[in-house]
Amino acid sequence: MTAPTKKYEFLNLGTVDAPYLPQIEDAVVRVLRSGRYIGGPEVEMFENRLAALCGTTHAIGVSNGLDALRLILKAYVALGHMEQGDEIIVGANTFIASVLAIVDAGLTPVLVDPDPLTSNLDTSLIASAITPRTKGIMPVHLYGRVCWDDELRSFAIDHGLKIIEDNAQAIGAVSHLPGLSGSHCTGGLGDAAAFSFYPTKNIGAIGDAGAVTTSDNELADAVRAIANYGSDRRYHNIYCGCNCRMDPVQAAILNVKLDHLDIETARRRSLAKIYAAHITSSKIRLPFDGNKECVWHQYVIHTNDRNSFTAHLDKHGIGWDMHYATPPHLQPCFKGSGAKKIKIPQPLTITELLASQCLSLPISACTTETDAKEISEIINLF
Ligand SMILES: Cc1ncc(COP(=O)(O)O)c(C=O)c1O
Repeated sequence: MTAPTKKYEFLNLGTVDAPYLPQIEDAVVRVLRSGRYIGGPEVEMFENRLAALCGTTHAIGVSNGLDALRLILKAYVALGHMEQGDEIIVGANTFIASVLAIVDAGLTPVLVDPDPLTSNLDTSLIASAITPRTKGIMPVHLYGRVCWDDELRSFAIDHGLKIIEDNAQAIGAVSHLPGLSGSHCTGGLGDAAAFSFYPTKNIGAIGDAGAVTTSDNELADAVRAIANYGSDRRYHNIYCGCNCRMDPVQAAILNVKLDHLDIETARRRSLAKIYAAHITSSKIRLPFDGNKECVWHQYVIHTNDRNSFTAHLDKHGIGWDMHYATPPHLQPCFKGSGAKKIKIPQPLTITELLASQCLSLPISACTTETDAKEISEIINLF
């Protein structure tokens, strides 16, 4: 039996991409006719545009967001900035890719609780998580909200730590932290950043794609080489690398999508504003919108009574999702002998509480402003 069609879909990529189809088709045909099926002008154009957006000197197109994170960390290891067993502090409530990348590079993720208000890494907990083996902090701009503050920045500087942004969910978000010099855009805040262009992201490919941004020339060269069999020139392999290059068809499609990033962000912001203004139920905790910088990859509310709430949404045909109901440290891969791969300095009480309460409402091009108002009214009946 197929599930009944929702009146208010959570997400339908066909609907999201429909306005761009003629341009996407042209882009695909352009690559097909060019005969350049690896690298080439579309990838270069996308890299240049992404670097300009983030205010970095380099952007390197890669295969997906997980690989982008892995490549940054592997490059730091290859360059001698980190070594096997070194520790990276990361928010425990992230998508598992952030944690897997650290493990895959032979490093140890140190999981700390988020700030319950923002769901982002609680930077006041960093000091108690640090050890002589700490070599980096991975702020994840979760749900499109910038994870960046003075404490994080000065802590990294004082302890010589690399900041690796997981910017899979926050392309185009801008930090309003006062006194910030250089780039203010996520992807240009730390030492390096990873992007995902998974189809559901704010800018999505028609398949997998990702990117690394950095203004560190040495790191950029290493990431580019490692992503291409470890070679700095043809048939000359200076690292034991992998094949993690961005596909030019995806780059061509992303060049189309990047033109519309501002429109997509504005749409998400106006839907978030409608939810914030219209959802008045005392059983729902709305997401933090303190500094207006969020690009709303997800609109995540929290409720104590999630089972009844999802039943209420189902009854009224409202699509929903959960980001994320099971945090990485509770996944089977980190149970038993897998538990040795991660470090948990303090109980992850907030992470587990948020995981039990979180619920994502529709916030994409599938949702109109009228839909958002109607959804809010239905939520208020709960
Ligand atoms: C926070 C976060 N990090 C990393 C990734 C990994 O990106 P990808 O799915 O492109 O490998 C994702 C995407 O799903 C993500 O949400």
